[in-house]
Amino acid sequence: MSARWTVLALSLAAACQSGEVRDSLAPTRESAYEVVIAPILRERCVGCHGSERAKGGLRLHTPEAIRAGGSMGAVVVPGNVGASELVRRLHLALDDDEHMPPDDKPQLDAAQIATLERWIAAGAPYEGPVDGLVAPQKAPAPTKMAAADPAALSALRNELVHVQAVSQGSHALWIDFAAIAPRTDDALVERLLTPLKSQTSELALARSKVGGATLAFCGRLPALRKLDLRDTKVGDAELAGLGAQPALEELVLARTAITDASVETLLALPALRSVHLWGCQLSPDALARLRAKPTLRVDFGDTPDTVIAEVEDKPKFTSELPSPDLPPAGDPSAPVNAKCPVTGSPINPKYTRTFEGKVIAFCCPNCPGEFDTDPAKYAAKLP
Ligand code: HEC
Repeated sequence: MSARWTVLALSLAAACQSGEVRDSLAPTRESAYEVVIAPILRERCVGCHGSERAKGGLRLHTPEAIRAGGSMGAVVVPGNVGASELVRRLHLALDDDEHMPPDDKPQLDAAQIATLERWIAAGAPYEGPVDGLVAPQKAPAPTKMAAADPAALSALRNELVHVQAVSQGSHALWIDFAAIAPRTDDALVERLLTPLKSQTSELALARSKVGGATLAFCGRLPALRKLDLRDTKVGDAELAGLGAQPALEELVLARTAITDASVETLLALPALRSVHLWGCQLSPDALARLRAKPTLRVDFGDTPDTVIAEVEDKPKFTSELPSPDLPPAGDPSAPVNAKCPVTGSPINPKYTRTFEGKVIAFCCPNCPGEFDTDPAKYAAKLP
């Protein structure tokens, strides 16, 4: 890959990391009140104690208002939790008339009460940090994704690779090489996807000829969330090229050559939530090690509903949402048929094959394989 992309990938990774650090720690260093306390009051109290309303003569929406207290005087006594009316009210029985917030309103949880107490105990400062007070962990802000280069999208379509936005208005892309799987190799993937590295989010390479170079390339795609490698020659050594790819959530390895030796690779993928391993040579011990990870769903075809799962519970390689820029009519990548040649059902343009220069679409992911068993017979049913 080019140096430019290395730099981009590294700076994206750095941006994500610093974003996390900033969210959890840095603002607290600036003002625990702003980052931790004010949001709790805003969420649970300010509706009745704010600029619009001042129940009990109390407003809690600014430092000045909190200092001013309510009709009974100060509600926060800096450094003295026990003397603070605000805290006393939080601890009253729910059916006590003085309990805050009133019992028919959303209540604070124990952690929020402890947070308010810790802040008051520390002197209720409106500036600066408070030991031990950190903002609730937020997911790092999604990296702003630039729109894909139109020339790169055209290049894909000219090669009959299916590409569309993963959802309306998103720049993230679902890219499916199914129509040209037999001639899809490492060089082609790298050539077509290098300009789309930041946008490639769901990538289907089933039945293609890709190997280690593509896996290593995928390991460096910062936004890659789903990867389908079923029926490829990918084995343990190739798969290891993914490294600790940070975004990958779903991986389809059905009928690949991977073995027990890939367990470590799979466990090292930090975001992986689902792995599909039907038809792979894995020992019960290896499966048990994978299944010991509570956040990982392992689909091995050893449960009674797996046959159905393979047909229906496909990794949801994205919606039927219309592409914001669908290929114009007459586009060579548009399927020639409206009905599946295998079943006669309406087609789903996700599932395609190229046969004698025409793109043929199917109703489901199983029909292209069926088509391959006797293309001539099924081609006869095409318009
Ligand atoms: C649905 C409206 C409502 C919400 C939400 C609410 N309060 Fe109140 N609060 C009242 C009313 C009404 C009073 C006056 C009656 C009373 O004193 O119990 C009051 C009085 C108070 C007083 C006594 C003020 C004084 O000096 O008399 C305190 C302290 C207080 N609330 C704290 C809170 C805190 C802290 C929250 C958020 C965790 C909160 N309240 C949320 C309605 C609300």
